[in-house]
Amino acid sequence: MTKEKGKYYITTPIYYPSSNLHVGHTYCTVMADAMARFKRLSGYDVWFLTGTDEHGQKIQKIAIEEGVSPQAHVDGIVEGIKKLWAMMEISYDDFIRTTEDRHKRRVQEIFRRINNAGDIYRGIYEGWYCTPCESFWTDTQLVDGKCPDCGRPVEKARETAYFFRLSKYADRLLELFENNPGFLEPETRRNEMVQFIKQGLEDLCISRSSFNWGIQVPIEEDQVIYVWLDALSNYITALGYPVVDGVSGEDDLYKKFWPADVHLVGKEIVRFHTIIWPAMLLSMNEPLPKKVLGHGWLLLEGGKMSKSKGNVIDPVKLIERYGVDALKYFLLREYTFGQDGLFTNEALLGRINGDLANDLGNLLSRTIGMADKYTDGIIEAPAGAYGEGPGKAFDTDLKAIAVSVAGKVEAFLDEFAFNRALEEIWVLVRRSNKYIDENAPWVLAKDETQKARLGEVLYNLAESLRIVSVLIQPFMHHSSDEIRLQLGIVQDEILWDDASRFAVTSVYRTAKGPALFPRLDVEKEMEALAELNPAGAESAD
Ligand code: ME8
Repeated sequence: MTKEKGKYYITTPIYYPSSNLHVGHTYCTVMADAMARFKRLSGYDVWFLTGTDEHGQKIQKIAIEEGVSPQAHVDGIVEGIKKLWAMMEISYDDFIRTTEDRHKRRVQEIFRRINNAGDIYRGIYEGWYCTPCESFWTDTQLVDGKCPDCGRPVEKARETAYFFRLSKYADRLLELFENNPGFLEPETRRNEMVQFIKQGLEDLCISRSSFNWGIQVPIEEDQVIYVWLDALSNYITALGYPVVDGVSGEDDLYKKFWPADVHLVGKEIVRFHTIIWPAMLLSMNEPLPKKVLGHGWLLLEGGKMSKSKGNVIDPVKLIERYGVDALKYFLLREYTFGQDGLFTNEALLGRINGDLANDLGNLLSRTIGMADKYTDGIIEAPAGAYGEGPGKAFDTDLKAIAVSVAGKVEAFLDEFAFNRALEEIWVLVRRSNKYIDENAPWVLAKDETQKARLGEVLYNLAESLRIVSVLIQPFMHHSSDEIRLQLGIVQDEILWDDASRFAVTSVYRTAKGPALFPRLDVEKEMEALAELNPAGAESAD
């Protein structure tokens, strides 16, 4: 049995429901999902949180343009987001919406607590405001007079507002980075943040009076809480912290799961998560998250995929055409964690045809096909040691690789190196295909004296496939299930530990099934995708 290894709390950013999400958001959520599934499978008690960040001037503006209330606008988009995650089979444990009462009431209490700690004051805010990014900037932060994040024009804004004494925490934040090298990864981001703090932190404006789509400041009616204090709090309000009279749910989850093991975020919001968020928690005297991981962006030839630029890839169309497993595999295999990567339809089709159809799909169909043809679908564990024929060296090599992949996958997943983890699994997939060619079962089948060897070869292949089915379970569970079904494995629970053991099953009774990933006609698909996802075709010259 797998051992209970403790708790694991992982979060994604809560996305803005300004418009439908694109494949960039899907990328982040798929990584978090794969990690949550992997941790569950290896014996952790997991809590996986995602949600939506629904307040702010931008959403209010869009709703006005659409002629609906902000609530009606976000309700519609959030429904679509939940459908997308259902299609992607994202295994979140909770979905928090910042417009929910449980969140709003707790954020007000968080505001009160920070205020009681003497960390909030009323003042005049004057600065540059970037509406699409919902960010204030100082003169020195602007790049050529424009927003340093998105490069768009900014407006001068001056109003009465509440401020959080962020500057007070500069030293403790520097200490945090110095004493906990693992707090923020990749390392390059850590250096950026340390520089940012050393340049001098300014107090943070945490309320606005120029719009009203937000959580009301508990000590002044005309002000709403400015987005980041509202948004960042989601990671604890969803766990029931702080306890507020009249809001159902205690903070048992908080006691159990906080601090978070990982906040997975895109690189552009690392600053908020590693400076503002820890400072808020320090002010409340609460533990800090263990790790913030900043991932890179999916880019199109024309730049960053972005809702406001409209150059996006719609994941729904890709799922409908190629299935959940193919899209998940592609996103996890194609990109290097922490770096930006280019999304192209060509790369997607290349992965599906190469890794999935040719390598994995073929391995399964060849193995099951041979078992069907040569042994009536029965593959038994060899009885005792078989002779010392030339095939033994192949067996030894295959088995050595098969039982060592799980350990490598674990090590790579520790670093969120999904691509490297999948690469290791594919070493076994490819080795197994080579093993078929080396042993030529179709030749063995013609020779009655080779019957035992044939059985042994098929058994070794079935065992490798069983191991592959465990290894891919966190990333592509449909394919995992299908492999197990075709191998005839009857086992209710998949155990991660079984991936590092060879010769676990005594007998397989195979059942031929559909191809895992039918081969695609690339030319035809490129045309279809150019219509479905024009933005992804840009680089296909
Ligand atoms: O920033 N490539 O929400 P958001 C990869 N509400 N990832 C991408 C991406 C791309 N092209 N585009 C978006 C917000 N993402 C705030 C967060 S958290 C307390 C509040 C992913 O809807 C990436 O993870 O703009 C990024 O950080 C996030 O979506 C931003 O989503």
